[in-house]
Amino acid sequence: MNRDDKPQASRALKVRLRTAKQRTKSSQTWLERQINDPYVRAAKAQGYRSRAAYKLKEMDDKHRFLKRGARAVDLGSAPGGWTQILVERVGANTVLGIDIQAIEPIEGAVLLVLDFMQADAPAIIVQNLNGPVNIVVSDMASPATGHRETDHMRVMALCEAALEFAIDVLEPRGTFLCKVLRGGTERSLLETLKRQFGKVVHIKPPASRADSAEMYVLAMDFRKP
Ligand SMILES: C[S@@+](CC[C@H](N)C(=O)[O-])C[C@H]1O[C@@H](n2cnc3c(N)ncnc32)[C@H](O)[C@@H]1O
Repeated sequence: MNRDDKPQASRALKVRLRTAKQRTKSSQTWLERQINDPYVRAAKAQGYRSRAAYKLKEMDDKHRFLKRGARAVDLGSAPGGWTQILVERVGANTVLGIDIQAIEPIEGAVLLVLDFMQADAPAIIVQNLNGPVNIVVSDMASPATGHRETDHMRVMALCEAALEFAIDVLEPRGTFLCKVLRGGTERSLLETLKRQFGKVVHIKPPASRADSAEMYVLAMDFRKP
């Protein structure tokens, strides 16, 4: 697939599902949104595991940080959409993905079932790498509780842990990309990013739903201490 294969907003009529007795109103709304979502359709047609694949694709199309031959670590990779894009763009056999949940095999990637928040997770990842790391991406998110502050704190804790890992393993000039929530990164985290990287930007890719608080922080040109 080339870099210009973007999902087009659907011209088809919006599909409305007949209500089923066993479906709650929210699951009915979710299902209708999935069926009518052009990214869900494109992912299915183009063989991507998730609509999230297009978020990474769009961010890379704009900022060109996935360089062929780079070695990449994908944190929170299930079901595997980002890992598929990484294999496509950096190449096979230099991508390692981890997730708490099992991930179906992806040709060209090493996949581990691992809780990134357990104390020995960084060491386990490093043991499974076959060379220096140029890119660390994290799309990790805990299941939403609906309580805004709790969800925010959880996502930020995952992001802080991912950044700490990236600072440990990245090669000079490396790249770090991480999911954060609207409002961007907290001050102390942003200060660390700006100190450690030459360029830091926040991105809301078009594939990220407008009503979702998620966005991404992209930090490039790592200054190895
Ligand atoms: C939004 S999904 C990632 C989607 C993925 N980027 C894709 O394109 O298919 C977030 C993932 O983060 C994972 N996750 C959350 N907390 C984690 C942790 N502590 N360690 C590893 N994975 C975690 C979840 O299991 C979930 O699969």
